[in-house]
Amino acid sequence: MSGKEKKKKKSTASIPNRHALYEAAVQNVEADIEFFERVYLEEHGRPFRVLREDFCGTATLACAWVSGSPERESWGVDLDRDTLDWGREYRIAPMEPTARERVHLLCDDVLAADCPPADLVAALNFSYFVFKTREALLGYFRSALSALAPGGALVLDLFGGTEAMGDLVESERKDAMTHPDGIRTPEFTYTWEQADFNPVTHELHCHIHFKLSGGRKLKRAFSYDWRLWTIPEIRELMSEAGFARSDVYIEGWDDEADESDGIFTRKDRFENQESWLAYVVGWNRS
Ligand SMILES: C[S@@+](CC[C@H](N)C(=O)[O-])C[C@H]1O[C@@H](n2cnc3c(N)ncnc32)[C@H](O)[C@@H]1O
Repeated sequence: MSGKEKKKKKSTASIPNRHALYEAAVQNVEADIEFFERVYLEEHGRPFRVLREDFCGTATLACAWVSGSPERESWGVDLDRDTLDWGREYRIAPMEPTARERVHLLCDDVLAADCPPADLVAALNFSYFVFKTREALLGYFRSALSALAPGGALVLDLFGGTEAMGDLVESERKDAMTHPDGIRTPEFTYTWEQADFNPVTHELHCHIHFKLSGGRKLKRAFSYDWRLWTIPEIRELMSEAGFARSDVYIEGWDDEADESDGIFTRKDRFENQESWLAYVVGWNRS
């Protein structure tokens, strides 16, 4: 084979699907589920059964939830039909038939979706940052509260720290992994870009880029037009929406490894860092 042919062969290699790369780069649904189980058990002394995943995208979390026990049911809500269809084909179809029947997807706005009462509503990977005004976020919190069973929880994540309010480009190598459909994503580089932050409005424009071996790139695989909310704003709006209480859990730091440790602890204060991740849990009245 000539050098030219070799080059041609490399450039035609297919790039893994952007949703599969996103899941491998960004999501850790096992860790999310462990956190949900822990806080719900601590609050009620019993496990919960029904999960609603708002902004579910490919519904990986909703699928992982029902796969954990035959008692469990989940509802996934997302506006984007193509993303839901991908999730149906590559995440739901490969599941055990009995588990598959317990995941329900709705192509709808999270503000309008009508699902049975959920024990826990999750809105992860900062998806609710699409609501850019107090009125809009309050509207979402009211609607999430009305979707909860008595004693249920709304779980959000958010990021912050001194680096959050500025331009940033951060790359990380991700290991190859096999997805639930048996398809493998090779090793790749994930880049998080905060392209523009406006301190007056807290509007934040971000992009996700992927780079694969052989220089193949997926630039701006995902782009986000958000408002960067703060913990006190979120808690005040939860209280205004009618949540009985909200708790804040901050991820710890491993000094030896010089990286976050994946352990979230309930805190009323902590020392600010360059960047941190938190969950905010809003509780419905029992
Ligand atoms: C950042 S992705 C989140 C994917 C996944 N849930 C996760 O945790 O990584 C945001 C998703 O929210 C959806 N979305 C944005 N606004 C929405 C709305 N008002 N109602 C329902 N889905 C919405 C988009 O279609 C997109 O799939």
